Amino acid sequence: MGEYKIVVTRKIPDESLDMMKKYGELYIWPEEEIAMPYERLKEEIRNAHALYTNVGDKIDRELLESAPHLKVISTMAVGFDNIDMEYAREQGVAVGHTPSVLNETTADLAFTLLMAAGRRIVEGAGYIKEEKWKSWGPMLLTGQDIYGARLGIIGMGRIGEGVARRALGFNMDVVYYNRNQKPHIEEEMGVTYCELTELLQTSDFIVLLAPGSEETRHMIGTEQFQLMKESAVFINVSRGTNVDEQALYKALKEGEIWAAGLDVFEEEPISASHPLLSLPNVTAVPHIGSASIATRKKMAMMAAENLVAGIKGEKLPFEVQA
Ligand code: DGY
Repeated sequence: MGEYKIVVTRKIPDESLDMMKKYGELYIWPEEEIAMPYERLKEEIRNAHALYTNVGDKIDRELLESAPHLKVISTMAVGFDNIDMEYAREQGVAVGHTPSVLNETTADLAFTLLMAAGRRIVEGAGYIKEEKWKSWGPMLLTGQDIYGARLGIIGMGRIGEGVARRALGFNMDVVYYNRNQKPHIEEEMGVTYCELTELLQTSDFIVLLAPGSEETRHMIGTEQFQLMKESAVFINVSRGTNVDEQALYKALKEGEIWAAGLDVFEEEPISASHPLLSLPNVTAVPHIGSASIATRKKMAMMAAENLVAGIKGEKLPFEVQA
């Protein structure tokens, strides 16, 4: 088996490397936070049989065309919008991902952002550190009530269900919009299906969880922000490309909506000089939805299992079903 070449585009936990190294020669990009440059990846992948990647790499047709021996792409993520799935399929390259394992961790982050943006936590912390706090003020740093508010979830998959479960603990009135209505969830959790327009018009908090694709690109833009309440708090933990960021900036700046909590951006990493980040009503974190130690370790192992199965020519345990 040692004749195979495996390209790993980031430094990942040792246990996952140990699992893969029995099956081939590993090329490991040594950085954790600095992405492997596209041209470098193109060079390394020329004679590779397996690719271990993540959401920060662009795996497009041009890259895949330069990898004639590739048998498997394994991404350490549930989302695969960065991979040209059509071309991979055409070339008979198996693609694996890491579904389910990150659902609760990502739901935690969605709820964290919801609470932080709603109650101005980051702004408040800055207020103290920057020595702006002079005394208790009756309306100082006042935010939105979470308990008992209406939450609209756009994209009711497993992460959405996790967010809904958390929200029910806060006595929230949960409505959702999804491609397919989910009667079993409605029955089980007492949540209600809602058309998108009504959800946008009536929700106090809106959490976007739709997967990234051409179909969902800019699904939330000027028109959708204008439908939202002026007090609405908008959370995106899905893909940055699902939101028109210029429209979001305008909506936040002009008070069409109240605040946003963002884990994902159209361009990642977002530049610190991006206009969105100059707004006090934006709470932004760097794509850390699934970033608990335990979950990231599990994702790394699942991705290694997928890769090994692909090298052996076996069915991947967690193959992309799209
Ligand atoms: C995913 O898994 O798709 C997340 O965006 C990264 O954990």
